[in-house]
Amino acid sequence: MTSGDGRKQLGSLSSCVSLKGKKKNSSTGNLDCKRLKLSSRTSAASPHKMSTSTSPRETPLLSSLEIHSPEEAASHLQSRSRQSPEWYFREILGINPWAKQIEIADSVNRYEKTLCYSCVASGKSFIGGAIIPWWLTSRHPSRVFIIAPTERQIRINLWSELSRVYYSARIPLGGEMQTLDWKLDTDWLAKGFSPKDAMGVFGLHAPNDLIVFDDAQGIAQDVFDAFENASASGTAHYLFLCNPAVVSGTVYEAITSRRKEFHSIQIDAFHTPNVQANRVVVPGLIVKDKVDEWVQKYGWDSDFVRVKVRALVPKQEPDTLIPLDWLEMAKTREVIQHQGPVILGVDVARFGDDESVICVKDGRQLLPIQNDYVLQGNDTMQVAGRVLRAYRGLGAIRANIDEIGVGGGVVDRLKEQAINVHGINVAEKPFDEERFVNLRSEMWWAARESVDPKNPAAMAIPNDDALCADLSAMKYSVDSAGRIKVESKEETKKRLKRSPDRGDAYALAVFESYLAIAKPVSVYTQNSTLPRRPAWLK
Ligand SMILES: Nc1ncnc2c1ncn2[C@@H]1O[C@H](COP(=O)(O)OP(=O)(O)OP(=O)(O)O)[C@@H](O)[C@H]1O
Ligand SMILES: [Mg+2]
Repeated sequence: MTSGDGRKQLGSLSSCVSLKGKKKNSSTGNLDCKRLKLSSRTSAASPHKMSTSTSPRETPLLSSLEIHSPEEAASHLQSRSRQSPEWYFREILGINPWAKQIEIADSVNRYEKTLCYSCVASGKSFIGGAIIPWWLTSRHPSRVFIIAPTERQIRINLWSELSRVYYSARIPLGGEMQTLDWKLDTDWLAKGFSPKDAMGVFGLHAPNDLIVFDDAQGIAQDVFDAFENASASGTAHYLFLCNPAVVSGTVYEAITSRRKEFHSIQIDAFHTPNVQANRVVVPGLIVKDKVDEWVQKYGWDSDFVRVKVRALVPKQEPDTLIPLDWLEMAKTREVIQHQGPVILGVDVARFGDDESVICVKDGRQLLPIQNDYVLQGNDTMQVAGRVLRAYRGLGAIRANIDEIGVGGGVVDRLKEQAINVHGINVAEKPFDEERFVNLRSEMWWAARESVDPKNPAAMAIPNDDALCADLSAMKYSVDSAGRIKVESKEETKKRLKRSPDRGDAYALAVFESYLAIAKPVSVYTQNSTLPRRPAWLK
């Protein structure tokens, strides 16, 4: 390496070294410095310029070494970082990763394919964000590609963690930090991709490439298929960060049948710092109260607790109506805002401890269930008032309301307001009597179809744990006549010891749109014979 190259490399190498000493000959880059020290300046001021001034608050990270040139400093930083990601995280980024986060980075350093599957909020995206500058610093040239189910998810999760460490690092990291794009030099960069743009990435492997899949459980299978083909060349490193809400596909196989191909790190909630200490040690990580609440509410053996707390794949019992992994994918689906039409689904509380819930379907998206849309108790006037406000405020075209029991009062009250309200008695006959035992079964089957990943018009749902727990808890059976029977609300309540009110409101909001395809076997071909639509469905 010439000294010019070295200077260029050092300058780009995170612009991180402050020279203590005087430059003798700037044209050749020969330096008269005796020692090099890392500056403790933050990078915000001029992140991409190498500083030659010495900060008054120097952190003598390299000071125990005799380093005589920028080249040496660059090379030392590179090899030290490569030896120990932990050193880099603590000394350069100034962050304190917990043990499993260090284990993830060590694994990325050593193994071609690393898989981390964990409970929710264990710090996966955080360490993914920190691994990016570490990888770029410890290898030159090098590239990091980040893929998540949607571009938005990269932005709000991993890239926001990266930006945070970039601007708060103890030394400037250099380059130009932009949204989903950080360039230090040609072929020395990090880039975020939406799945549809990601396919091209796999064909372009260079030896020092790292590909990070964040929220890998929600990434479409065709992205992984492309990855499988490209990874056969074995040149890049891969990091899969996921929650094990999967029952098929590459991530599922990586956790189960193809375990040997990956260096796996499993993290359940009980081994995370806040749960271990039973107090908040690292703000933002999962806490014991949440774990206790979920276990109590959904059951130790529920798929919800298995996946979100215990870091296990779902049991996926054959009578589960809506697989949890379908819901995970629905959560990550890209949506068109304010697509319309807006339809409300209202489940009215039948007993004191139930909740009345309003779900709002806007085109193919379920809007977040705001606090306003959940009412304890069953005061019909109050529920009707909330429905009316949502209906008018959102310009809805219809409100589907469970009219059994107290719901009947809400329907009557709203009919007086001249809005398009449909009282639905789920115990009544279904539209397709050959296939379903009752309307409830047909309605819930349509809800299932609404999130089937094979459905090109599948819904996007909000990140709502209670909604997902309700939807994934529903069971069904097939009667002697071969008809689908979804368990009754009473059966579900007895089994779960709670009422699946959010799930019912969801089904009421979406079912009419998916009724036509609510067949026991999903068929999305143009020639399929569709069941009869209800008369009131225009
Ligand atoms: N070592 C750490 N130091 C400081 N904050 C941290 C650390 N690890 C994680 N966090 C913070 O904890 C929160 C949760 O972390 P993160 O989002 O990385 O978890 P996750 O496992 O990716 O969650 P999810 O399961 O939702 O994808 C974030 O706000 C993150 O910044
Ligand atoms: Mg994450």
